Amino acid sequence: MLSSLFKLFGLKHNVMNNRVVSWLIKNEQFNAHLVNYQKSNELQKQFVQYLPDRYTANYSLYNKQTGFFEYNDIKKWTAGFYENNVGDLSRFLALNLCIDQLLEECIVGDIAEFGVFKGNSAFLLARFAQRINTNCYLFDTFEGFDERDFKENKETRFEQDFSGTSLSSVKEFVGEENVVYVKGFFPDSLAQIKEVEGLALVHIDCDLGAPFKAALDYFYPRLQKGGFLIMHDYTSLFWPGAKKAIDEYFKDKPEFLIPIPDKSGTCIIRKV
Ligand SMILES: C[S@@+](CC[C@H](N)C(=O)[O-])C[C@H]1O[C@@H](n2cnc3c(N)ncnc32)[C@H](O)[C@@H]1O
Repeated sequence: MLSSLFKLFGLKHNVMNNRVVSWLIKNEQFNAHLVNYQKSNELQKQFVQYLPDRYTANYSLYNKQTGFFEYNDIKKWTAGFYENNVGDLSRFLALNLCIDQLLEECIVGDIAEFGVFKGNSAFLLARFAQRINTNCYLFDTFEGFDERDFKENKETRFEQDFSGTSLSSVKEFVGEENVVYVKGFFPDSLAQIKEVEGLALVHIDCDLGAPFKAALDYFYPRLQKGGFLIMHDYTSLFWPGAKKAIDEYFKDKPEFLIPIPDKSGTCIIRKV
């Protein structure tokens, strides 16, 4: 039974994938089972060891509090980017936990993401902006990497150039409620928006060093105290330009970088 599931999803047969696949297959049923956690079967109990308690054993208690996390979001998190994002559920969970923390501390402000691609992380940030009724700014070319970022900097090139997307498909996927789409080469695209301030959460996921540096220069001073700055690809070793830009930027800042054990090596700071 399990081996046919692995074949179905094209995944290697190992323990972690066993649990990931089980969760994905069962998440809707699982959701309903959570209130009956004590009665759950052995597989569910095993799997529960790998998710935050607030989203499993204490899910009904959690739902009476911030209640932001939704199992159905996992479908959007993996949609069209399955091979990557099914392996990065920890990143999805970390984003949800950061949002929970802001909700619990009543830190309210605009949200921004630089590096949207198909919108697999943006939809969650947009949902957060709708919940707190602020703006979610989404910056991208929506056509993939721009050659200008390679001309002046020696950046690694991978097969993936993120051109397989479009503004209209992202609009359809993420929606337009509380969302401001800013299409174009960053940082030039900043000219399209009015000044922003008091940001509550910024997610930078542009992979390359030069735009990462430009994004830190712009977003960090505009983040409010306690706001989250979530930086992708810091410890993955795939994107040395991004790591260098982050290290150099935070050399003289009061915050320390906190690495997150997700697949793509996110690091986080909270603004002091
Ligand atoms: C890794 S993808 C973002 C993935 C997305 N955050 C997610 O989790 O699904 C990186 C994105 O950064 C965008 N990007 C990189 N450099 C850029 C620049 N200078 N201006 C605008 N967009 C850029 C690319 O177009 C690409 O869509």
